[in-house]
Amino acid sequence: MDQKSDGLQVEREINVCIAAKDWKKVIDFGQEAPFEERVKFLWVWPLQEDLERIRICFERLAISRVLSIGCGTGLLEWLISRATGIHIAGVEKDENWWRSKHATTTYIPMQFAEALNDAHQGQQQRWHALMFCYFNDGCAFREYVQNFNGCYVIVIGPRDGKGIHTDPMPFHVNFPAEQRWDWVCQFRIGNENRNHVVIYQRQ
Ligand SMILES: C[S@@+](CC[C@H](N)C(=O)[O-])C[C@H]1O[C@@H](n2cnc3c(N)ncnc32)[C@H](O)[C@@H]1O
Repeated sequence: MDQKSDGLQVEREINVCIAAKDWKKVIDFGQEAPFEERVKFLWVWPLQEDLERIRICFERLAISRVLSIGCGTGLLEWLISRATGIHIAGVEKDENWWRSKHATTTYIPMQFAEALNDAHQGQQQRWHALMFCYFNDGCAFREYVQNFNGCYVIVIGPRDGKGIHTDPMPFHVNFPAEQRWDWVCQFRIGNENRNHVVIYQRQ
């Protein structure tokens, strides 16, 4: 099998689990697949106990509606949503690509950055939290946060010293200048000792 059909096979297997709403099997699959293969689908593959920790934190902070910016396929969001019962939608850029035949399957309701306008930004108060996983554009990050009325921002990404850079990094977040956010919850995610979840609260 060449690399492309390998990838299609993996995607098919994930889709079968998703159609059966079997999130535990998707997680097992992520743990078993070789790193180079699974990272094509998700930068952060959570363990079951990570999802339970997320559930407990969200419950404590009364977070039940999350908008994930730069969600990619939305697979992490689908897993969180299935395991915790909270509602998560995603935002991506480049709608033409995501709607094209080259795009990988997406797993959550998606909106597109190009179509976001004042009306949409008005709706952002519906979301309790914005989530950024392996996001890579600090300016866009600040713009999203600036237009957000809710109380929580969740940053998921690599810990310091792992040779990977995202913007924001979980523990080095450059928020809009006039706003103050402090972290209220943080924990490791995945089995690679590489990634962290940090939840920030507006002060
Ligand atoms: C490194 S990928 C991470 C994807 C996914 N969150 C994950 O963890 O697997 C960063 C994603 O952010 C998206 N992105 C970058 N700038 C964006 C913007 N201004 N608005 C929405 N999405 C953006 C990219 O298209 C890309 O899919």
